[in-house]
Amino acid sequence: MSALTVVTGATGNVGGSLVSALVARNMPVRAVVRAEADAARLAGDGVQTAVADLDDLATMASALAGAEALFLLPGYADMPGLYAAARDAGIGHVVQLSGVSAGSGDMTNAVTEYMVRSEQAAAESKLPYTVVRPSAFMTNALRWAGQVRDGDTVTLPFPNVATACLHPADLAAVIAAVFADPDRYAGEVLLPTGPEALLPREQVAIVAEVLGRTLDFVGLTDEQARESMTADGTPQRYIDAFLDFYADGKLDESPVRSTVADVTGTAPRTFAAWAADHASAFTRS
Ligand SMILES: NC(=O)c1ccc[n+]([C@@H]2O[C@H](COP(=O)([O-])OP(=O)(O)OC[C@H]3O[C@@H](n4cnc5c(N)ncnc54)[C@H](OP(=O)(O)O)[C@@H]3O)[C@@H](O)[C@H]2O)c1
Repeated sequence: MSALTVVTGATGNVGGSLVSALVARNMPVRAVVRAEADAARLAGDGVQTAVADLDDLATMASALAGAEALFLLPGYADMPGLYAAARDAGIGHVVQLSGVSAGSGDMTNAVTEYMVRSEQAAAESKLPYTVVRPSAFMTNALRWAGQVRDGDTVTLPFPNVATACLHPADLAAVIAAVFADPDRYAGEVLLPTGPEALLPREQVAIVAEVLGRTLDFVGLTDEQARESMTADGTPQRYIDAFLDFYADGKLDESPVRSTVADVTGTAPRTFAAWAADHASAFTRS
């Protein structure tokens, strides 16, 4: 019998894909959600659910009881406390989600800071763990789906920043493979990427082709990007972090690596395949 794996963020892009990937491998899952309605929706064959909050250690202790493995999102208030709860529950392996920027160790960047803080908690926990630093997700394109539904022009920040964006199902497949063979990946830092580096305008062109439409692309200047994030209510520390990454060039997510194929035996999915699967999100109802 495979180990029972607790999956945090089970309603999200990564956690939801991971639940599916573990079920496909016949590995038992406990999906952590915050709302009872999500628990009712996700419970099913091979999937238990637990209602808990990553910022409430008592609820997480209950969610971890009796499980053997844990997939942990980064950046919550008390990451060492979460690892202590995992150790107390007898968890034997943790996969810590992180991000590429953690490699810089730059604690002045608010995003890097929470990734590094999470990785440090893993290292200091003395539990066996694997860090996964994925490149930017293809699902980030859903942030501009509304522009495609509402018109024929897509306006985006950082037009010259290419990313080897990653399908969440491929990220989930990598993480599921780690849980299937944890000793092999203990102590490793895995950097899964998508199959090609794409500029924002190239992503928009691929979505246009999938939809059979013409879409115009407009790139914001860095100053316009700052104004747009301010207008959206993005906290100042994250505005500064994104400008540091993409305007000052501190984060490069364009390198394509072989990690997905190396770990899963299957080449990573293309952005065109992701867009075809998500065409309805870009289509007026
Ligand atoms: N986007 C990228 O390109 C990228 C790249 C590298 C790393 N990452 C990291 O990947 C993480 C996951 O990404 P994603 O796309 O899967 O995010 P997502 O779709 O927004 O999902 C976030 C999940 O976290 C849950 N959650 C939020 N606060 C919680 C709390 N206090 N306690 C328990 N659960 C909580 C949410 O539950 P509810 O449904 O209850 O809200 C949801 O299931 C990001 O947060 C980021 O740190 C992202």
